[in-house]
Order: sequence, then C-alpha cells, then structure tokens
Amino acid sequence: MPGPAELQLNRDGNLRHLLTTEGLSRELITSLLDTADGFRSAQGQPVKKVPLLRGKTVVNLFFENSTRTRTTFDIAAHRLSADVVTLDIRTSSASKGETLFDTLKNLEAMQADLFVVRHSAGGAPFFIADRVTPHIAVVNAGDGTHAHPTQALLDLMTIRQHKGDPNNLSVAIVGDLRHSRVARSLIHGLRAMQCPDIRAIAPGTLLPNDLADLGVRTFHRIEEGLSGVDVIVLLRLQKERMIAGLLPSEREFFKLYGMTEDRLRLAKSDAIVMHPGPINRGVEIANEVADGPQAVILNQVTNGIAVRMAVMAMTISTQQADALCRL
Ligand code: NCD
Repeated sequence: MPGPAELQLNRDGNLRHLLTTEGLSRELITSLLDTADGFRSAQGQPVKKVPLLRGKTVVNLFFENSTRTRTTFDIAAHRLSADVVTLDIRTSSASKGETLFDTLKNLEAMQADLFVVRHSAGGAPFFIADRVTPHIAVVNAGDGTHAHPTQALLDLMTIRQHKGDPNNLSVAIVGDLRHSRVARSLIHGLRAMQCPDIRAIAPGTLLPNDLADLGVRTFHRIEEGLSGVDVIVLLRLQKERMIAGLLPSEREFFKLYGMTEDRLRLAKSDAIVMHPGPINRGVEIANEVADGPQAVILNQVTNGIAVRMAVMAMTISTQQADALCRL
C-alpha cells in the first residue's frame, strides 16, 4: 500500500496532494518556492487578488487549534479568488458522533475542490487523501507529531530569502524536536535541499530516536550546537503532546536551552532566528531575541501566505490536468 510520500504525487511526479515533505525532490520544492516568491512580490500590489482559483471551493477542516496556519490558509485561498469555507469542528456534528469519513463524504457532496486538514492524529490527512474522490486535493496543515509540510516550505522560503540556497548552510533546531511535526518536516525539506549541516539541540528526553538516520547531528549543550550556525530554529515545548516527566521545568529549560542574546552571539554574526509560533517568551526565547534585529519570525508568517497560495495552486492544477486525462 502506498504511503503519504507516494500518494501525494501522480504518475508523472506532479503534486496532487501535500501530505509530507518526505520524498519531495529538490526540483519540486524549488518550483514551489519560486512560485511562492512570485506571489509574495505580487502581494505588494494595490490589488492583491489573482483569479487562479476562481470558481473553486476550498474547505478548511481544523480539528486542532490554530492561529497562524488557519488564518494564512484562509487569506491565501481568498487571494487566489477561491470560495472558502472554514468548518469549526467544535461546533460541527463531529461533536455529535459523526465519523471523519462521514463528515468528509458530506463535504464532498457540497462539491469541494480542496481540503485543508489539521488533526491531532498523525496520518489523518493521509486517511482523507486516500479516500476522497479523485479530483479533490488534500493539504496537510499539521497532523499530530507527524508532519507540517507547508510550515517547512515557508521556513525554507524564509531561509532562501535571507541566507540563500540551503545547500551550503548550517541549521540548528533547538528545543522539543521529539513532539514537533515542524522539526520533522523541516528536516526532510532541508535534506531534499541538500543542506550539509543539520543540528538538533535539546536534552535527550526531547529528541526523537531516528535523528542519526536522518543525518542530523545532536547536541545536548547549546553552546556547542550553536557554534558557527547560519540559521537557528526555535521550537515551543509541546506540553499537550508530552507524557509527564520529560521536562524538568520551564525555568530550568530556559536556563539550559533558552535563546538569549549571549547565546545568539555563538552563531554567525548574521545568523537568523526563526520560530513557527506560538512563541513562549522566557521559555525558549528571551524578549530581546524575539524582538531583536536577527529575528525573522513575522516574515515567516507573511511567507506563509505566499507558500500556501503556491501549494493550493499547484495541487489543484495537477488535479485538474489529471481529471482531463480521465475524460
Ligand atoms: C506549530 C504547529 O501547530 O505545529 N505552529 C504552527 O503551525 N505555526 C508549532 C506549535 O504549535 O508549537
């Protein structure tokens, strides 16, 4: 049975769903990022909308909380001129016992063209993509601790913008990598982009077991791990996904791993500081760093719109071309 990495590509290698960054080629990622760069420049124009998805319906299905991801998917779909429906799952019939499959079939009956799915269960977007009628695209907006591919793409876009091609950069990811779908997807993305030096910095309890297989070097001491890096990616402690006892205390974490101005000086002098949000000031990041000149955290948010526009445009266009071939 094909997994997410196979299911998301059609026979010609074109993107028909986006479920994971695992298995994406450098060429495909580059083409998405180039398209996103184009959309980002167009956002400076007085009229921000383009008619690419006019007449298409995008349904946002958020089974888990979200601020940035949900809003930027919404804005991205509107900027492509699609009709957008956002289903608030807390007030939907899922709370009356309707299964995910039945909710899906009903939304299909309303002639949706693309589902954006966030779910606390890893694999939920894949489950949906495997069962939807063939012309509908599915985009993963974060599933459990598994994947968050649009976040990884906007991170790569931001890295490219500030530091150039990741193929000669050192990138350090600091914090709770074990529960982070953002870290997992970014690592696959960086590998696809041939990044030669990916580092993970965290206590052993917050590191996943497979980092060595992914070519990631691990560091328990932040002072060692940060030395000479170009890019620092900070992560929130995902307490909602943690079993008790993995973490000493937030104060202790900040003392050992928090990003302070002093620690930032260990990286290259022009290093950038990234964070997918939401940030927890005084836990993984000090105020002076969060608000300082090296932080590009809000630029990541702006890039999120352009990247999500590129992903929706590309997946829907593949689905449309495939539907024509089936006629
Ligand atoms: C992240 C997520 O939901 O995975 N946030 C985001 O999408 N921007 C990271 C987090 O919740 O810590």
